[in-house]
Amino acid sequence: MTIGLIGAGHIGSQVARLAVKAGHDVVLSNSRDPQTLAGLVKELGPRARAGTPDDAAKAGDLVVVTVPLKNYREVPVAPLAGKVVIDTNNYYPERDGHISELDDESTTTSELLQAHLPTSKVVKAFNHIQAAHLTTDGLPAGSPNRRALVIAGDDAQAKATVTTLLDRFGFDVVDAGPLREGWRIQRDTPGYGPRRNAGEVRHDLAIAKRYRDM
Ligand SMILES: NC(=O)c1ccc[n+]([C@@H]2O[C@H](COP(=O)([O-])OP(=O)(O)OC[C@H]3O[C@@H](n4cnc5c(N)ncnc54)[C@H](OP(=O)(O)O)[C@@H]3O)[C@@H](O)[C@H]2O)c1
Repeated sequence: MTIGLIGAGHIGSQVARLAVKAGHDVVLSNSRDPQTLAGLVKELGPRARAGTPDDAAKAGDLVVVTVPLKNYREVPVAPLAGKVVIDTNNYYPERDGHISELDDESTTTSELLQAHLPTSKVVKAFNHIQAAHLTTDGLPAGSPNRRALVIAGDDAQAKATVTTLLDRFGFDVVDAGPLREGWRIQRDTPGYGPRRNAGEVRHDLAIAKRYRDM
């Protein structure tokens, strides 16, 4: 499988490392000339190349969007039609500016990306793990107390694809439900950040509170 990355910063570069290690090809992109990714491409080896966001979107069988949320509208739409798109993004008003639908909690970050990509199958993943831990916390399937990552999405097949990928990357997976339930793992919820196994993260999701109820 080829994994396209739109964004190659803290999270994008780490997902690319996991993908290459798992035997996938990667096409990396950022907001600048692909040449700026030469160092990372060299580190990743022959399975990696850099291109524009359009190149990454076209080449990817699955594409990861991992840019600052404020830039989500710049993600190319047409080449992602019909594809599984992983959304890692979180909302930080101090970085992203205020987005009224998130401030009033009438939607969630991944629903915003899904609305921007109406023909793609958006799955929320990787939003609650620090980038550095992606390459240190993975364990083989069946390991006791394996770290679990949360997904959310509206398409069961897309979620199954992402579950298989995360398992190969070293993590158990807990399904929080449809995209609209993604708030349960947003910034400031109990599961956001710490290392949790599947049972613990299910508990975190169950006790999560909306900002308006905090
Ligand atoms: N850091 C973490 O530990 C962490 C953990 C979980 C989730 N997240 C979330 O994941 C997202 C990415 O975080 P990050 O820490 O990886 O950010 P980051 O290190 O700042 O990297 C952002 C990447 O997105 C690229 N980018 C920005 N605008 C773009 C555009 N319009 N088209 C294509 N690429 C674009 C940047 O390229 P340039 O360098 O060329 O600008 C850069 O490669 C954020 O929403 C963040 O909240 C972060």
